Amino acid sequence: MVNSTLKSNQSNEEEPPKYRSIEDIPGVGPATAEKLRKMGYSTIESLATASLKELTQFLGEKTAYAIVTEARKHIISVPFMRADEYMRIRKTVEKLTTGSKKLDELLGGGVETQAITEVYGEFGSGKSQICHQLCVTVQLPKDKGGLDGGALYIDTENSFRPERIVQIAKRYNLDPNKVLSRIVYAEALTADHQMYLLDNADAQLKEHNVRLIIIDSLVAHFRSEFVGREMLAERQQKLEKHLHRLMRLARAFNAAAFVTNQVMAKPDSFFADIEPTGGHILAHTSHTRVFLRKSPTPGVKIAKLVVSPTLPEGAEVLFRITENGIEDVPEKKV
Ligand SMILES: Nc1ncnc2c1ncn2[C@@H]1O[C@H](COP(=O)(O)OP(=O)(O)OP(=O)(O)O)[C@@H](O)[C@H]1O
Ligand SMILES: [Mg+2]
Repeated sequence: MVNSTLKSNQSNEEEPPKYRSIEDIPGVGPATAEKLRKMGYSTIESLATASLKELTQFLGEKTAYAIVTEARKHIISVPFMRADEYMRIRKTVEKLTTGSKKLDELLGGGVETQAITEVYGEFGSGKSQICHQLCVTVQLPKDKGGLDGGALYIDTENSFRPERIVQIAKRYNLDPNKVLSRIVYAEALTADHQMYLLDNADAQLKEHNVRLIIIDSLVAHFRSEFVGREMLAERQQKLEKHLHRLMRLARAFNAAAFVTNQVMAKPDSFFADIEPTGGHILAHTSHTRVFLRKSPTPGVKIAKLVVSPTLPEGAEVLFRITENGIEDVPEKKV
């Protein structure tokens, strides 16, 4: 967990946490704790990465500042750090296997924690299948490419199929019931409901040691509810808030955030180009973007790295979807 790894520059790593619950923070009485919980901040980790602007809607500015500062001290010992120390924190970033070596390589070793990875592509390109796959692999031990943790699946299109999880779990000789019990599932009915679910997720994340947060699909509700130019600003504002919350949770819990997105025809393009929905906000917040498309071979898909903060962009790999989940394409089929 970030909690222990970020503390690595303190002399005594075995030191017990100073605060065990948000009530332990000076200045947080029962009433304030109740307010914070209602806002979705029920753990020290989420308070440490909370936005002051958001807290000051409900708390006085001074109180909000004091609370966040205290919570930050708890998980991060120094606000300024040298680049070599930052490098050490970067080393707490872990990678989650997708089940395909080639796809892992494209992502620089797998799906990163403390970051948002977005896959976009047309229907049937494999977006939801990768989500299911990751829900299983996240539960694998670290030496098998997992994160030894649970998953949270926020589903907006009724795509989640437990039967699929059972099939994929068998590939790894995992007990399917146990695997299912470590996936926290929620169906988001509207854009606001989707935001509400994430805003109130942090207690669940902690309880189930969630290391993977999935939103499948991220933008669909926002697109269907905020139609037309006059609603665009409001939609983007909400989406931005939602993404920042996602990013903060991913950092606080050292979790991989994995979101799916649809495509639309580029409105001003002469060619039949397509681009992901969600506009600039998503483009700026999404750390790694992967474009998926179907190949002429049934079951085989193509993944292209479109944006990455650390890897060369434009590379493409093939993977396939079988009953076992996401796999490499056998050499002879390529
Ligand atoms: N058990 C299975 N065995 C083999 N292939 C499967 C299995 N289940 C699903 N697939 C394949 O996965 C593909 C569907 O992928 P997926 O549902 O991930 O698409 P998507 O990109 O999420 O689409 P949408 O935009 O409609 O949500 C189909 O090609 C389907 O044949
Ligand atoms: Mg889908």
